[in-house]
Amino acid sequence: MKTVGIEAIGVAVPKAYLELSDLAKARGVPEGKFAEGLGLSQMSVPGPHDDTVSLAAQAAVAALKGVDVWNIGLCIVGTETAVDHSKPVSSFLQGLLHLPPHCRVFETKHACYGGTAGLMTALDWIRAGSNRGRKALVICSDLARYGLNTPGEPTQGAGAVALLVSEQPDLAEISPVVGTYSRDVMDFWRPLYRKDAIVDGHYSMSCYLEALKSAFLAWQVEQNGFKPFVADRFSSIVYHVPFPKMARKAHDALREFDGDREAAKSFEWQVKSGLELPRRVGNLYTGSLYLSLASVLATDDRDLDNAQLALFSYGSGSCAEFFTMKVTPGAQKKVRALGLIKRLEERKRLSVDEYERLMRAAEHDDRAAVEHEGVHGFLGVKEDRRLYALG
Ligand code: HMG
Repeated sequence: MKTVGIEAIGVAVPKAYLELSDLAKARGVPEGKFAEGLGLSQMSVPGPHDDTVSLAAQAAVAALKGVDVWNIGLCIVGTETAVDHSKPVSSFLQGLLHLPPHCRVFETKHACYGGTAGLMTALDWIRAGSNRGRKALVICSDLARYGLNTPGEPTQGAGAVALLVSEQPDLAEISPVVGTYSRDVMDFWRPLYRKDAIVDGHYSMSCYLEALKSAFLAWQVEQNGFKPFVADRFSSIVYHVPFPKMARKAHDALREFDGDREAAKSFEWQVKSGLELPRRVGNLYTGSLYLSLASVLATDDRDLDNAQLALFSYGSGSCAEFFTMKVTPGAQKKVRALGLIKRLEERKRLSVDEYERLMRAAEHDDRAAVEHEGVHGFLGVKEDRRLYALG
């Protein structure tokens, strides 16, 4: 079977953020609830020119550095916050990135699992030989909104992660053995008439944990049957991170399920480095798992050359997947060169007042008037057409 995996990664986050200690103060909540209770310190706040398309385009540009776009044969955007009921984000991107006309472009939706659905499709497309030497671009892009004064408010965020998928996996080779679990549940959803998600918060956490154990079991069965203490073989276990404390709970549940009586002991070495970026960005929905992967590769102190990583993708509703990858030697250096931490440090800190104004304005942004020269990203709507400029 062909060697297939991630050749390059690109990450885009809005240029502004909110300190969650400021939000805690404004909401009359003890600081410890967001910091220790949820594991979050900051959250990305999208500006008027950030949307799912503009963030996806920025992430894609970073992933495509030095790549001939003529060689991209498939572009899939995983998102649950698309900008149009019919025209997919990937078509906007085709224009912005000058993807070739022979490129198959479409959008996938399944809550936070939508990006993984795209990744699995791209991997299978290449493994089957349908790519005929071409590469795939899979982009996860979302604005995560629960609304002001809701329990989900501190777990919002925004951003995009682009993955270049090919037969030249310079970052990580992905195994074809996958454990899948799906179940029809109402844990989190967003009716067509709403911008903000509706969530049954504590129930969603139990759905996540049930899906994790079931997908892990399915992965074991696919391989060679259930064996205890398998999780020990992974240098890192990378989870979908709606908020970092969820990944901690997930890890405890997985390790216990795997037979470990001291589950918490492995958190430091198997999970912590994957939460460095997520705790400063918040939930990216589809991109959260892959931001956590970038976090491992960018911030882990260990030499991860040839290390085995496990990944768990969860999308409410629900569909989940447990899969593994092997880190290609040199991958950490490449991801560190993206300067992700520095980019987070350069963001503008917003006051709670500024954040609330942006949230309220976003209710109407879909109809905003077209902006003038010098602006990049989403410009506004003219004659019912969304307009963009790629900076
Ligand atoms: P809540 O009900 O306001 O918070 O909202 P809580 O009362 O459960 O407290 C949270 C934690 O803070 C608890 O820790 C408290 O003890 C602790 P735990 O007991 O769980 O370990 N705490 C404190 N700690 C230190 N000092 C203090 C203090 N006070 C309390 N002073 C909830 C929490 C997560 C429910 C809410 O934020 C929410 O609804 N978030 C959105 C839903 C979500 O993220 N679900 C995750 C699983 S589903 C998923 O991942 C899919 C998703 O990404 C969507 C998709 O697929 O598209 C969401």
